[in-house]
Amino acid sequence: MAQSRSLRARRSCLAVPGSNPKMLGKAQGLPADQVFLDLEDSVAPMAKESARGNVTAALNEGDWGEKTRVVRVNDWTTQWTYGDVIAVVEGAGANLDALMLPKVQSAEQVVAFDLLLTQVEKSVGLEVGRIGIEAQIENARGLVEVDAIAGASPRIETIIFGPADFMASINMRSLVVGEQPPGYDVGDAYHYILMRILMAARMHDLQAIDGPYLQIKDLDGFRRVAGRSAALGFDGKWVLHPGQIDAANEVYSPSQVDYDHSELILDAYEHATSEAGGMRGAVMLGDEMIDEASRKMALVVAAKGRAAGLTRTSSFEPPSQ
Ligand code: GLV
Ligand code: MG
Repeated sequence: MAQSRSLRARRSCLAVPGSNPKMLGKAQGLPADQVFLDLEDSVAPMAKESARGNVTAALNEGDWGEKTRVVRVNDWTTQWTYGDVIAVVEGAGANLDALMLPKVQSAEQVVAFDLLLTQVEKSVGLEVGRIGIEAQIENARGLVEVDAIAGASPRIETIIFGPADFMASINMRSLVVGEQPPGYDVGDAYHYILMRILMAARMHDLQAIDGPYLQIKDLDGFRRVAGRSAALGFDGKWVLHPGQIDAANEVYSPSQVDYDHSELILDAYEHATSEAGGMRGAVMLGDEMIDEASRKMALVVAAKGRAAGLTRTSSFEPPSQ
């Protein structure tokens, strides 16, 4: 069942082609935090319309457990977008958490999408505004407009990097998604893009999601690339194959050591600022000085750890005076 918007888990976001009933069935039993049933680029043009029926049937008849349930529709430059939204929301709106809009290029495209969604919700008697929007940034225009896109509708939940389309759109000289373009040996060619998306997402309290890694047999490569966006603060990544799911769930959760440390900082700081602790705003925790900013950093790690189901393995002992 749907969780509240801000709490939805998205460490692993599993892509499932809407034209493949077998995969729509199999995906239900996999441990991904989110599934997105695709009507866009993994579905051939001639299968687009029949895929809508597969997707609504899978949402209505399937058992998706606690997963966040998303459908990716086709982008506004195609002839399919409005038909996708009407078919999916009329057919299975009550069993859907969000729609993903690919290749978003402007705030207006999000506003138009929100209006269309609102009409369909009203026409079938669904609560207006419950279904969220995930916006994929996949070209230069989308990236330049990303702040406005992120703020264009209260329905927006995530900003997603779409590396394959993005690399094509900027003429990057590489065919290997996620890896550095050959010849670029002075840093990470994706750093600016990831940071730009992360800033826009955080400015509007949204999740930031990294896109696919296409070499599905190369798990070390997946972990390496995922580790970079996770280190920056991204909340999760697409997975294209069941084998990538556990790796994503692990990479986007804090380690046990970091989680324990974060809970320790929270307890120690709460004690330090209390009357019993001397009402101090900056104190030592072991060899480390902690203050209000440390508490804020610890809150982020603790929240991710708790959401990932970690439990602490050490407890705080107040220092004897
Ligand atoms: C995903 O849609 C991508 O283009 O990478
Ligand atoms: Mg794409």
